Amino acid sequence: MNGFNKELFIGKTILIAGAGKGIGLACAKMAAELGGNVIAVARTQSDLDALASQYPDRIESWAMDVTSEVFFERVKALPVLHGLVNNAGINRVGPMEDQSNENIDAVIDLNVRTLYKISQSAITPMKNADSASIVNMSSQMGFVGSPNRTLYCMSKHAVEGITKAMAVELAEFNIRVNTVAPTFVLTPMTKPMFEDETFKKFVFDMIPLGRLGKVEDIAHSCTFLLSEMASMITGTSIKVDGGWTAR
Ligand SMILES: NC(=O)c1ccc[n+]([C@@H]2O[C@H](COP(=O)([O-])OP(=O)(O)OC[C@H]3O[C@@H](n4cnc5c(N)ncnc54)[C@H](OP(=O)(O)O)[C@@H]3O)[C@@H](O)[C@H]2O)c1
Repeated sequence: MNGFNKELFIGKTILIAGAGKGIGLACAKMAAELGGNVIAVARTQSDLDALASQYPDRIESWAMDVTSEVFFERVKALPVLHGLVNNAGINRVGPMEDQSNENIDAVIDLNVRTLYKISQSAITPMKNADSASIVNMSSQMGFVGSPNRTLYCMSKHAVEGITKAMAVELAEFNIRVNTVAPTFVLTPMTKPMFEDETFKKFVFDMIPLGRLGKVEDIAHSCTFLLSEMASMITGTSIKVDGGWTAR
């Protein structure tokens, strides 16, 4: 349960890219519970139907690929947009020396190029809002390295960098841009990783608070950054990492 005012997002349109599962789903639910008009985007219609059935008046479902031009055009054509969570992302875990061109291109395409393109498309409708906020879903891996994760780390370090650049460039339109940088969270993306007991021990040993993140932990930080409570915060990151990067 969150402690935010239930009217926090009344009258606000908030788009969550990658809203069908995991962290994005939690962000979409929280924004809907707080009164927002939420545009939830993912490719799997059944995930979006399940979400919309919980909040029929609050969720508009777009079953689309967020890497597509037709999606970018649809975002650009929105009359107004107050919040965007650039959450869609992938990981291809493996030793750097073995990563294929396909893996490299897939990770860069979704985690970096698409984030840029969605944000670029959002500028037009965000200029029609008095103020707006973009939250880029980063990772603790945007601050450190980790075995078998150099490709993913590269993409999330890029997310941290572009966030600062966007914050500087878009400030004149009162568009704030920040990241949320989670540690490991149990979601469909990470579930297979935790079937490996050695890896699981490594992760728990690295997190001083001694537990994985919950999707709600991440959604709380996104909600704060999307809201006017964060109206003077731009170009920075909230690390929701249980202390991983403090070691
Ligand atoms: N889980 C973690 O431990 C963790 C830690 C740090 C950072 N993160 C970051 O948090 C974000 C979300 O991670 P997650 O673990 O929640 O992922 P997830 O469980 O794989 O969920 C991703 C969501 O994004 C959607 N999506 C993916 N590609 C898409 C596309 N091309 N078009 C439209 N929708 C798309 C998926 O739906 P469809 O497949 O139906 O389209 C799904 O709803 C990512 O950026 C990830 O890098 C995760």
